Amino acid sequence: MGRADVLPFWFGESDRPTPEFIREAAIASLREGETFYSENLGRPYLRRAIAAYLAELHGCEIGADRIAVTASGDSALMLASQLLLAHRDRVVAVTPLWPNAVEIPKIAGGRVECVSLEVNQGRWELPLQRLLDALTPGTRMLVLNSPNNPTGWTIDHEQQKAILETCRRLGIWIIADDVYERLTYTDGLRSAPSFLTLTDPGDRLISVNSFSKAWSMTGWRVGWIVAPPTMMTDLAPLIEYNTSCVPEFSQRGATVALERGEADVLRLRDNLAATRHRLAAELRQLPRVEVPAADGAMYVFLRIAGYPDSLDLAKRLIAEAGLGLAPGRAFGPDGEGWLRWCYAADWSRIQLGLERLARFLSV
Ligand SMILES: Cc1ncc(COP(=O)(O)O)c(C=O)c1O
Repeated sequence: MGRADVLPFWFGESDRPTPEFIREAAIASLREGETFYSENLGRPYLRRAIAAYLAELHGCEIGADRIAVTASGDSALMLASQLLLAHRDRVVAVTPLWPNAVEIPKIAGGRVECVSLEVNQGRWELPLQRLLDALTPGTRMLVLNSPNNPTGWTIDHEQQKAILETCRRLGIWIIADDVYERLTYTDGLRSAPSFLTLTDPGDRLISVNSFSKAWSMTGWRVGWIVAPPTMMTDLAPLIEYNTSCVPEFSQRGATVALERGEADVLRLRDNLAATRHRLAAELRQLPRVEVPAADGAMYVFLRIAGYPDSLDLAKRLIAEAGLGLAPGRAFGPDGEGWLRWCYAADWSRIQLGLERLARFLSV
């Protein structure tokens, strides 16, 4: 970090600032003097805006009484684990996965077992039966992130139905990390498949979401949870003891993002889809580089034959090529040997990165 000669593609965020109308809303809020504590579960206007947004996006009714505003998606995952887990509870996670989503349940006492995504005929795939077999009686929670960071793998409705059926039968909670649901590249879809469309309010489902990715608001630290209404009685004090509330200027920004940001979300999504297509195609031209296909998120997970140690390779790419990619090992043991490239960046910079990688591989 901080080295001007290194192209940083390791972070999971856009290189563009938040759209201006969102920033203006936060500035207006501060000017108005909205600098006080607010409700633990979030300001009612934002909870209502999230409910309306989700109802429109997914075509199903989701009451504001099921929504809690959280100080980021990260915080939402922590709250979900604190709500549900006791010491040594068994948790299943589909990996490779953004490390926080695996480590957070451990902090809350969970024992995490991983089911690995697989590359099948050049595509990332979920071995569904292996996941269902791993959902044993006594398992407390499943952590499932789709579209997935780091691979881009995206679940389909049939898989969701099978998982839901098993989890209902065994009383297992589903933590659906939906942070990338808007970044889906399947033609005509505004959102990746969502468990919210298949479940009832009382189902053991917690959907975690965030303003960070689709609205380019990583630094604002604001996200949300959809949970059964009965969980709110415990969630409110839990938020009180963690962060108390989300700053009101962030909530004002988040509200206008939902109310007026749809065109920006779609533009970002279309740009990312085009960039992904181009980057994957160019990478596949390079010698020994493997890029499995995937349908969402904002990362290419790639592998270069002959470089089994991802941390060593990531360090060499920094030192010898000025190219900053995340080592796959950070996403679990099944990520070893892979590199993650975040492509939410200007194409000219990505092209420079490609040139640097090509030069590194040709030496
Ligand atoms: C899968 C996944 N979930 C949740 C988050 C949390 O995002 P934030 O804490 O910025 O809301 C991230 C961020 O990278 C992520 O990749």
